[in-house]
Amino acid sequence: MSTPMPQYHPTPRELDDLELLTSGALQPITGFNEPGSAVTLDLPAEVVDAAHDSGEVELVDPEGLPLAVVDLDGRVRPLTHAQHGPFRRLYLSPAQAQEHYAGRTWVPVAEPVTDHQIERLREAGPLVLLALVGTGTPALSTVGTIRATLAAAELLDDAAVVAVPLASRGDADLDHHLGVQVVENYADGDPVAGLVEGGELPDAVAAVVDFDRPPADEQGLVVFFTGLSGSGKSTLAQAFMDRLLEQGGRTVTSLDGDVVRRHLSAGLTFSKVDRETNIRRIGWVAAEISRHGGVAVCSPIAPFDETRQQVREMVGAAGGAFFLVHVATPLEECERRDRKGLYAKARRGEIPEFTGISSPYEEPEDAAVRVDTTGRTIDDALGDVLAGLREAGYLDLV
Ligand code: ADX
Repeated sequence: MSTPMPQYHPTPRELDDLELLTSGALQPITGFNEPGSAVTLDLPAEVVDAAHDSGEVELVDPEGLPLAVVDLDGRVRPLTHAQHGPFRRLYLSPAQAQEHYAGRTWVPVAEPVTDHQIERLREAGPLVLLALVGTGTPALSTVGTIRATLAAAELLDDAAVVAVPLASRGDADLDHHLGVQVVENYADGDPVAGLVEGGELPDAVAAVVDFDRPPADEQGLVVFFTGLSGSGKSTLAQAFMDRLLEQGGRTVTSLDGDVVRRHLSAGLTFSKVDRETNIRRIGWVAAEISRHGGVAVCSPIAPFDETRQQVREMVGAAGGAFFLVHVATPLEECERRDRKGLYAKARRGEIPEFTGISSPYEEPEDAAVRVDTTGRTIDDALGDVLAGLREAGYLDLV
């Protein structure tokens, strides 16, 4: 009996690439993983194994809608187009864009357009502003870049906006190379104009930028305390929340390790897999809180570096700031305190996989603040955290 075609949820970068591949924007590249190409699809080994019979994998969007079928050589057969998301109507293929706007001057736009640039563009006749908005493009969010580009287009006499999901590969040369290729495909022989440097943002553009990238002290914030059981995470987190609430002006949500395990993560064990699930849940909620400009205070053990990195990424993608505090109280001190009597039980073998005893804790190397609470008062230790937050510009608590 043959197994059904396996499914794969592409990463955001792979989804952007899929859209450009199927729209013809990456010509002459037409599939994933062509020799020497940066347009790659990284199928997990178990998905490739499961595709043994069919030779194909179904690519599905985050909501589960099948978008395309890809064979194991990377050749793509589209099933449907992405239909949702803000400004979908502006995402035209090169052929559609040419149908509407042939003969215009095409202008790639990756950053908010300045007054100086608008002056120069006025001399270039009818325009198409190609908003390059793929995953990992640094300046603004996708929606922010399109809104800023639309605001700039309003200030020009005759400028249309087309959105292009051109993701960054984190390599300036590769990004440039692919970008040139994509823009040429859109322009299809029409003139292409680059933007000159310099100038100030016009008010209408600046307003979009301010909304998209609020100043650091108004940005959503996730303060994430990690450390061994008994290290003082919860106590520090609680003291921090109290200060924040006393000062007012920000909304605060606590995601404490023990509390989360009674609600959001009820039923999960302390196996590696369940701990990772637990932390990703906390990260997901914290990221949503930060999206709305709130402050989330998390205090789970979070023993694994990779999972903490995933939380950092989720928060960043939601537009929040991630502030990692390593509560680095040594194991001997945590065990000496043993306020819940758990270390004694773990030593007796009554609690399996106990962090620090029979399950690992990976010390973070990317903490913004490291604080050892041994022999210190809570207020004193909290002072280190507050100083770090103040220096980073996120919060200034007195
Ligand atoms: S995490 O590893 O998934 O981040 P989390 O912070 O949610 O852990 O829960 C840790 C708390 O659960 C500890 O403070 C302790 O009270 C309790 N606990 C029970 N069993 C274990 C265990 N095997 N390892 C660590 N903590 C445990």
